[in-house]
Amino acid sequence: MATGSRTSLPTWVLGNGGQARETADLISVCGHDRGGRALEMRGLVDRDDEPRLSEETGALVLGIGLPQVRARVYERFAGAFEFPVVVHPTAVVGASSHLAQGVVISAGCVVTTDVTLGPGTLLNPRVGVGHDSVLGRCCVVNPGANISGGVHLGDEVLVGSGATVLQGLRIGDGAVVGAGAVVTRDVPPGVVVVGVPARPLGRRTDSTEAGDMSRHLPQIRSGSPAKPARPQDES
Ligand SMILES: CC(C)(COP(=O)(O)OP(=O)(O)OC[C@H]1O[C@@H](n2cnc3c(N)ncnc32)[C@H](O)[C@@H]1OP(=O)(O)O)[C@@H](O)C(=O)NCCC(=O)NCCS
Repeated sequence: MATGSRTSLPTWVLGNGGQARETADLISVCGHDRGGRALEMRGLVDRDDEPRLSEETGALVLGIGLPQVRARVYERFAGAFEFPVVVHPTAVVGASSHLAQGVVISAGCVVTTDVTLGPGTLLNPRVGVGHDSVLGRCCVVNPGANISGGVHLGDEVLVGSGATVLQGLRIGDGAVVGAGAVVTRDVPPGVVVVGVPARPLGRRTDSTEAGDMSRHLPQIRSGSPAKPARPQDES
């Protein structure tokens, strides 16, 4: 059940790998969502714990670095929980830009003017997004990537670390831009591109997204602090 009238939200992070721990750290640094409500950190998802979400209300923050997994979890719980917008205090977001629910913006990001970030989209540290760009639902942009002005990312797009997408391009739903790529042409839905200039490597597959979804499904360890991730849990 949504808790919009509260000034303080019990908050869980969904995920159990490095991305989840980074997200928990981000929440502790921010202390509140973009609307000024305090976020009371209750713990991380852990596959070893019993599911308790049906007994809980509050906020969920996606600590998952895989777009398709983010989307599955978001869809599953969007009606029952709030997905707060969390923006690191060192990030800069233009006043005319719109952040949908569940957007997470990490340290050092710069989102300029008239940008739209769709529900559940994650910007990892030091990402730049230029004017008039639109990022769809549950996209993930990895550290140091640059999205130029007027770019359109569809839903569930992954942009790898340090990649650049040149101005005005369209990246289709579910596409993947490899780390370090420079994208100079539109990318069709579901296609993986790499290199400078970026060329198709193939189509995105379940293995591209590390197909074992079940390990990311929310099982809440209420009240527990973040614990070190096991290597196989990294997302
Ligand atoms: C593009 C990507 C999704 C491809 O993953 P994959 O399908 O598992 O591809 P593989 O690792 O099997 O590599 C296939 C080929 O593409 C090459 N390749 C993979 N990623 C590449 C990249 N980013 N740039 C250039 N070439 C790349 C490999 O060298 C390999 O070439 P080969 O067949 O000549 O040996 C992945 O490599 C990538 O860049 N992901 C982004 C990761 C990221 O941002 N990580 C940071 C997290 S904070």
